[in-house]
Amino acid sequence: MRPHHSARGFPHAPSLQYPSVPEAIRTERLTKCYGKTPGILDLDLEVRTGEVFGFLGPNGAGKSTTIRTLLGLIHATSGRATVLGLDHRERSIEIRRRTGHVAADLALYPDMTGRQLLWFLGALRGFDDRKRMQRVADRLGLDLDRPVGSCSSGNRRKLGIAQAFMHEPELLVLDEPTTGLDPLAQQEFFSMVAEVRAEGRTVFLSSHVLPEVERLADRVAIVRQSRLVVVEEVEALKRKARRRVEIRFAGPVDAGEFAAVPGVRAARAEGNAVTLEVEGALSEVFRVASRHEVRDLVTREADLEAVFLAYYGGDAL
Ligand SMILES: Nc1ncnc2c1ncn2[C@@H]1O[C@H](COP(=O)(O)OP(=O)(O)OP(=O)(O)O)[C@@H](O)[C@H]1O
Ligand SMILES: [Mg+2]
Repeated sequence: MRPHHSARGFPHAPSLQYPSVPEAIRTERLTKCYGKTPGILDLDLEVRTGEVFGFLGPNGAGKSTTIRTLLGLIHATSGRATVLGLDHRERSIEIRRRTGHVAADLALYPDMTGRQLLWFLGALRGFDDRKRMQRVADRLGLDLDRPVGSCSSGNRRKLGIAQAFMHEPELLVLDEPTTGLDPLAQQEFFSMVAEVRAEGRTVFLSSHVLPEVERLADRVAIVRQSRLVVVEEVEALKRKARRRVEIRFAGPVDAGEFAAVPGVRAARAEGNAVTLEVEGALSEVFRVASRHEVRDLVTREADLEAVFLAYYGGDAL
């Protein structure tokens, strides 16, 4: 519940004076249809305070629709949602003030310089710290003196990120924020997200880019065709993912020895080598291998991509 001493009427108040609610975002059967076209259907989601939550799905899955609905930029058709404990319909102005948002399609004022734009957008949230604004811009390598309209798309994206992060909001809602960023800016963005998390703030990150979600997120939701398919800890997904193990022995070894080992999904022998596809822990594989003289052993990184593609494409897992 929201207490009486809220910062309404105190736009300059730092965000940390707000008591945190257990869930930064909670939705119950949240639905948004565009006429007959479903945007998102019956979404039940809970994003915990302090986590980085990845929101993945193919094009047209409903990610941007969900984000715009949560922030009150479009109206839900039915269902309920709270953001920072506040009702998304009734309190959307306060939600937006306390949230940093990077929109998928950034519509910025072309005639303003970057500096004017950031200052203007900051002022809407009671932000007035020029040094901090400059620091964020410097981190991203932004030239704030250029008119926004003459910036490259990557630099406009950086402006979007800077305005979302600079007032240090409790919750960041980012719709594919790294689209078009060069690798250096991406690295900086990753550090910024990690810092937000370390400070106990929350990030809701929509993305197509698996490695970035894998690297940043604690949990991930996958949406497809307007429906939530799965919510899972990233670590749990990794455990589900298959790993390729190649073991080279001193002499030929029968692949059948490995076929019965729990977690081994495929085993093939060729010459003195055995190649395995393994899900989960490898210790049993190593135990069986150690019956023979092992010359070399290579494991490839777990193929999380295959797990995601199965969810994306709707194949059973
Ligand atoms: N303004 C709109 N009017 C009508 N239909 C829309 C509108 N915005 C989105 N949709 C439809 O809603 C569905 C979900 O779209 P949404 O933009 O939320 O997907 P997304 O997951 O963000 O996709 P992407 O990865 O391409 O950004 C799609 O079928 C899309 O065509
Ligand atoms: Mg989108």
